[in-house]
Amino acid sequence: MKSRQRATGKLPAHVAVIMDGNGRWARRRNLPRVEGHRRGVEVLKKITRYARNRGIRYFTAYSFSKENWNRPKEEVDALMRLLRDYMKAEQKVLLEHDIKLNVIGDYEDMPEDIRKEICELRRLTENHKSMVLTLAFSYSGRSEIVHAVKEVVREVQKGWLNVDKLTPKIFQRYLYTCDLPDPDLLIRTGGEQRVSNFLLWQMAYTEFYFTDVLWPDLTEEDFEAALREYAVRERRFGLTSEQLKAGRRYLF
Ligand code: IPE
Ligand code: IPE
Ligand code: MG
Repeated sequence: MKSRQRATGKLPAHVAVIMDGNGRWARRRNLPRVEGHRRGVEVLKKITRYARNRGIRYFTAYSFSKENWNRPKEEVDALMRLLRDYMKAEQKVLLEHDIKLNVIGDYEDMPEDIRKEICELRRLTENHKSMVLTLAFSYSGRSEIVHAVKEVVREVQKGWLNVDKLTPKIFQRYLYTCDLPDPDLLIRTGGEQRVSNFLLWQMAYTEFYFTDVLWPDLTEEDFEAALREYAVRERRFGLTSEQLKAGRRYLF
């Protein structure tokens, strides 16, 4: 068996992934783009299980952005069909592996049957403890921040929140990710080095790992390589290396 050299040292508690490169994977094989998405879903399932068995506590996947609604209708329709099938097929796995499902994004934009499926899966897995799998559907980091600002303004208008007491720590309670720690590691496949409107607030101090591997080709070994890279990075949060070595803790 091929040995998989495991990262030693610190493990990220929260890994986020931008699953990019499905279309190019298909194009290179003269296949329709949807075949790349189909294969991409299988890779998402594989990496989810691997992350869970590897001890990652939070795994977040960018599945469909708000901007992706502007793709050709047949691609959007195919993605919705795949999503529907994924939800049905993953239910068993989430139950067997004690994984809790969480969804972020403006998913009221999603077709009603998918919304129902999401609600049902969330309910079924709400007490699961091994890992939280967060899927970002119809997600936009900027829209999330604007949504949070609107909530804050409403609370201030009602007199429930004193505007002078608003801090980043309080503000983040209004984000879709209020129950999640910030990502420690972001992996983007497909070779592009950008965030594409993903978790803009939450990635203030996230470590970024970019790989040219297209998402449908991503293996457990590739994922492990990202964990190894993470393990040797020094996260300074604005402090100096010497301060960290002396045991100083960062404060936000
Ligand atoms: C990512 O793959 C999946 C989604 C955005 C839904 P792409 O479809 O963006 O693949 P490329 O970037 O065109 O290769
Ligand atoms: C980001 O990929 C969105 C998802 C992976 C769901 P895109 O392919 O949409 O990003 P851009 O357009 O290349 O920035
Ligand atoms: Mg892309």
